[in-house]
Order: sequence, then structure tokens, then C-alpha cells
Amino acid sequence: MRKGFLFGLAALAAVSGGLTAAPQSVQAAGEGVPVPKFDWTFSGIFGTYDRAAAQRGLQVYREVCAGCHSLDYIAFRNLADLGYSEDEIKAMAAEAIVVDGPNDEGEMFEREGLPFDYFPAPFPNEKAAAFANNGAAPPDLSLMTKARGAGPDYLKALMGHGYEDQVSEDVLQEIFTLETDKRVQAYELALEEYQHKLEVYEDKVADGIEANRPTEPEQPLPVESIEDLGLSDGLSFNAYFPGYGIAMAMPLFEDGVEYADGTPATVEQMAYDVSNFLMWTAEPTLEERKGMGIKVLIFLIVFTGILYAAKRKVWADVH
Ligand code: HEC
Repeated sequence: MRKGFLFGLAALAAVSGGLTAAPQSVQAAGEGVPVPKFDWTFSGIFGTYDRAAAQRGLQVYREVCAGCHSLDYIAFRNLADLGYSEDEIKAMAAEAIVVDGPNDEGEMFEREGLPFDYFPAPFPNEKAAAFANNGAAPPDLSLMTKARGAGPDYLKALMGHGYEDQVSEDVLQEIFTLETDKRVQAYELALEEYQHKLEVYEDKVADGIEANRPTEPEQPLPVESIEDLGLSDGLSFNAYFPGYGIAMAMPLFEDGVEYADGTPATVEQMAYDVSNFLMWTAEPTLEERKGMGIKVLIFLIVFTGILYAAKRKVWADVH
């Protein structure tokens, strides 16, 4: 029966392991440099949101990102969850202009936003959004931290550490080595194929058959600078964006916002704050989910104890 007890403990360990498992933070091999991991108050089984950071992140979203990115799944009244009062929410909603209708005459009309309204989108449709941004529509940010493998780590790295002015020399060198290796590998493959084609060609010529001589692949130059990556015009370098060329110019600049709570608005701070906010928009019920996990865990521990005590009592006379 000891085995049963151990099995119970193993099951508990498995359950708690599942609860603490961090989101996958490693990019698929060969895709690029790994995304660094940052500290978040919402990771771990007791994780909760840093509401001050999420509130600052909302300010960054409203003052910087909202010019290009929609946030379709969040209504102003949802902000109560971040600690805003009813009056503050009303005031924020009132700054938005919302298209409503049709009225009794069948016309659409504009009005001030109300708490039940959703955040207004900056562009009327995807085509207009793409047209205004060099052909790449800025994606909706509501679920962005769930849509990318490394989640909030990716968002913070993308905005606070990945652009040319921000990236560390080590990461840059890592990218250059990685891309040089990729080019060498591609070259070696092409060379093999070329040699095979050359043999076929030479056989044909020896047999007097007319044939086109295959062209020899060019030896690649090593990647030693961002220019060597050959990004398309209009794209900005970003170490963490797949392919390194992103259609979003660096959005954050030191003191780009003036925080209401007096926190210095460094780029890294704003990237951290807006990532916190966007983690909340993607999973507003994270705290309840984790709270439920802990309750289940406590229940299982107590229940295992009861079962064990019951077993001892039942078998006490038999042994
Ligand atoms: C001037 C317009 C503009 C502003 C301002 C802007 N973005 Fe973007 N953003 C874009 C565009 C365009 C893309 C699409 C990039 C691409 O696909 O190459 C994008 C893409 C993204 C992505 C997706 C990256 C991916 O992996 O696909 C995230 C996340 C993002 N932006 C976050 C933000 C945040 C947060 C802010 C505010 C701090 C912000 N953006 C401000 C235009 C903007």
C-alpha cells in the first residue's frame, strides 16, 4: 500500500508541474536567436498581475500603439479588473469616438464612447491598415502574447531589445554566425547538386548530345553587418522578428510617454509595462485559473492524507 501512497505523491507532483510549467520560450531550431527570458510577476503557480505595470502599459498602448494597432477584444469596462474606478473608465471611454446606429432615420452617427464600448480600431479595415503601413497591416494586439511562442518575453524583446539601436553586440554576432552558417549550408547543397548536374552534362557532351552547361553556385560571403542580411526596403532590423526584417519602425523612445505615477519612462520600462498589459488582455482570468489550480492541489493533498489514514485504520487489525 506504500506504493499507492507514493503513486499519489507522484500524481501530485505531475499536477503541480503542469501548473508551474512556464510558457515555451525557445524558438524552433534554425529560426533565429533564442528570445531572452524575463521576470514576470504572473509566472509561477502563485503568479498575479503587476497592476501598476499593466496600468502604465495601458497608457503606452493608448499613447503609442493605438495609432496603428487595434485591441478588438477589450471593452473599456474590462479595465475595472486592472483597478480603475467607474469614473476613470467613463472618462477614458469618453475620449473615444464611436460609430453607432443606425438611428430612426437609418443613418449611422458618431458619439462619445461609453464603458460598454470596445476599444476603437485605428483603421476602418485591414486594407486601409496595410495601405498606411507599407503593405503590412499591424495585427490586433488583444491576443498577441498567446499568438507567439515566447509570449510576453517575445513582446518585450521585440520592443525593448531587438531594434538596431537596442540590440547587444553579442546577440548581433550570434545572428551573423547563424546566418553565415545557413548560407554556407545552402551553398554546400547547391554545390552538390551542381556537381551532379555537371556529370550529367559531361556525359551528354561525350555522347555528342547538345546540352546547357550548369552554372556553378557562387560562394557566399560571410554575414558581417546588418546590411549583409539584405533586408527589403522599408523594413527595420529586429533581432527577434522571424527573418529579422519587420515592417514596424521602432515604436518606443525614451520619455515617449510621461507616466502618471512618476516612473521613469525608459524604453525597457515601457516595453515591460506594455507587455504586462498585453498579457492581461490575452488572459484576464489568469489569476482565477491559478487560484483554482492551487485549490485543486490543496484538495488533492488533503484527500490523499485522508485516504492514507483510512487505509491504515481499515488494515490495522489484519496486520
Ligand atoms: C506606426 C505604426 C505602428 C505603431 C505605432 C506600432 N506598431 Fe506594432 N506593428 C506595426 C506593423 C505595420 C506591424 C506588422 C509588422 C510586420 O508584419 O512586419 C506591427 C507588428 C507588431 C507586432 C507583431 C510582431 C509579430 O511577431 O508579428 C507586435 C507584437 C506589435 N506590433 C506591438 C506593438 C506595440 C506594443 C506597440 C506600441 C508600443 C506598437 N506595436 C506600435 C505598426 C505599428
